[in-house]
Amino acid sequence: MTLPRHYLQFKDFSAEEYAYLFRRARWIKNKYKRYEPYHPLFDRTLVMIFEKASTRTRLSFEAGMQQLGGSAIYLNTRDSQLGRGEPVEDSSEVISRMSDLVMIRTFEQSIVERFALHSRVPLINGLTDEFHPCQILADVFTFIEQRGPIEGKTVAWIGDANNMCNTWLQAAEVLNFTVHVSNPPGYEIEPDKAGVRGSAHFKVFADPIDACRGAHLVTTDVWTSMGFEAENEARMKAFADWCVDEDMMAVAAPDAVFMHCLPAHRGEEVTAAVIDGPQSVVWDEAENRLHAQKALMEFLVLGKVEEGDDN
Ligand code: CP
Ligand code: NVA
Repeated sequence: MTLPRHYLQFKDFSAEEYAYLFRRARWIKNKYKRYEPYHPLFDRTLVMIFEKASTRTRLSFEAGMQQLGGSAIYLNTRDSQLGRGEPVEDSSEVISRMSDLVMIRTFEQSIVERFALHSRVPLINGLTDEFHPCQILADVFTFIEQRGPIEGKTVAWIGDANNMCNTWLQAAEVLNFTVHVSNPPGYEIEPDKAGVRGSAHFKVFADPIDACRGAHLVTTDVWTSMGFEAENEARMKAFADWCVDEDMMAVAAPDAVFMHCLPAHRGEEVTAAVIDGPQSVVWDEAENRLHAQKALMEFLVLGKVEEGDDN
């Protein structure tokens, strides 16, 4: 059996593979917008396993798989054996014999790694405590659509050193751009955990406004990620100055865009004036989860396919 290709963290793919995926996502999106059916995954089955809540990830994978001609099955911990202690390895052996592709949203990254080791089919990380590669795939695709190549550009990350932050750090290394990071004291990035030790593609700033200076993209995320709810009260205090506001956007590049993976908390990590303002591209960003992940699923199941000439 040939070993399947997995997508567990951003650095699993090369810059050249991302360039292909972004071209492919654009082609698939254009076709979708023209209401032209495209069913390369006819008769294929995606299993989606959720151990945490989701709106966008579930919707984009389930709708995306249907639009590609296949079907998607939803499993959660509440009403499957996954929540009753069946080992991840055993679950992987069984689930991957009945499907063509698996997506998991869970807690520790080690869970997806263990699942991958026993999976006969490609596995996609739909968010772990450490990484959210599908979101950054869509975010970079969105930046390219809005502003052109991301290579050489600067992204300002304001807030928690969470799964999104770690994934941006990896993306900067793979795609050759820079991340300006500003986290509150006590919540700083851990380059080892993010898998970017020694990277020259990020700079740390104590003051969030300094991180935003000259940035082409300003982005943030919730102060308290799923699984960290017990820390909420302490985080509310620690993060109070890490709210992306109009002053921060004013020092960014004049044509800077604002992104947020959503769901957002207006008045916490971002003001309503910014997320609902003219520089925000959050709705296109959310929609692009669909198109980018359709390209990802096609690539993982079929490999590179002949590119259409109607881009
Ligand atoms: N951005 C994101 O992953 O959203 P969901 O939690 O709704 O899937
Ligand atoms: N960092 C957030 C992202 C949600 C899409 C979380 O993990 O809850």
